[in-house]
Amino acid sequence: MPTVLITGGCGYIGSHTAIELMKVGKLDVISIDNHHNSSPEAIDRIEAIAGKRMKNYAIDACDRAAVQEVFEAHPDIVGVIHFAAYKAVGESVEKPLEYYHNNFESLVNMLAACEANGVENFIFSSSCTVYGDIDKLPVTEETPTTEAASPYGNTKLVGERIIQDFIKSTDKVKAIALRYFNPVGADESGLNGEDPINAPNNLVPFITRVASGLLPQLTVFGGDYPTRDGTCIRDYIHVTDISIAHINALDYLLDGKNSSNYERLNLGSGNGVSVLEAINAFEEVSGVKLNYVIGDRRPGDVTQIYSDSSLAKEKLGWVAGRGISEMMASAWKWQLNLNESRAAQEA
Ligand SMILES: NC(=O)c1ccc[n+]([C@@H]2O[C@H](COP(=O)([O-])OP(=O)(O)OC[C@H]3O[C@@H](n4cnc5c(N)ncnc54)[C@H](O)[C@@H]3O)[C@@H](O)[C@H]2O)c1
Repeated sequence: MPTVLITGGCGYIGSHTAIELMKVGKLDVISIDNHHNSSPEAIDRIEAIAGKRMKNYAIDACDRAAVQEVFEAHPDIVGVIHFAAYKAVGESVEKPLEYYHNNFESLVNMLAACEANGVENFIFSSSCTVYGDIDKLPVTEETPTTEAASPYGNTKLVGERIIQDFIKSTDKVKAIALRYFNPVGADESGLNGEDPINAPNNLVPFITRVASGLLPQLTVFGGDYPTRDGTCIRDYIHVTDISIAHINALDYLLDGKNSSNYERLNLGSGNGVSVLEAINAFEEVSGVKLNYVIGDRRPGDVTQIYSDSSLAKEKLGWVAGRGISEMMASAWKWQLNLNESRAAQEA
């Protein structure tokens, strides 16, 4: 059966994408994930929801020989979705070389493996971070990218450039870079969600951990921004919607609908939601009053950013259908499940 290789298939977005791919059922799904930021339990969760077990190779995507062995074991691979990367902005400032090594080496390896093994279709996880702090909203794909504010951001900016240069040099591989805005939420079953090994540094996992008493308090970074309520505005997008966009993007390449061999697409909802609006949405769906304070601004945070995702709609027939209430409700359901299973393990 034609197979899709996901790198980072046990991570947050990768595991949800594996579930959606299995639900569609057109492609077998295999993964390379060394569990740097995920646990093998993700494979059980995927199976519990999708009813199929994903084969994961717990190898380093930077290990070229080990990656080649996976390609040789699966001659039916028709596409690669490359999620694997280190992704913590703050950590990347402290450990730039680790970030450059991991994110570049794994990307170069996967591209080389595609070319060497006749795999024509490649999807890359990029980020709205490539746009930096911009004045003109919403952000389209024509919005200029700016110098990255962190080594992590630079791995996305330069990662896109690496793919672009590579694609120019070969007619054997086509690629799409998907620029995610702010993926949040969990599978609607509540059985799979974000479960980072490293401390969460995103708003929603922080909210759900504070609400369940695992963390004492949420600090909202800055209440004096020039926005409608003084807090930063972001474009939150449900992880299941993001996952479905990858399936559409892969189909688009497999069906030869691409207009060039390298394309970039924004994946956002098109709606800006402030931090306080996100907190209110959470309180409404969960019935829990959140303990939060407004603190100082955090260096490096942009005031507001949200996307124009009409190109993804036009090219992939994709829209982000799930709103902020569904994002918060699914994230909360997942957190409650996680708390229950962790309590059972400790008992
Ligand atoms: N989550 C977000 O907010 C967000 C936003 C924009 C872009 N992205 C990008 O999307 C991708 C997926 O993000 P995520 O949130 O699912 O992250 P994640 O950390 O949950 O998943 C990444 C997975 O890749 C694995 N991995 C990392 N390096 C590896 C290596 N060298 N070999 C094998 N496995 C490796 C990790 O163990 C992890 O399971 C990343 O490239 C990230 O930069 C994420």
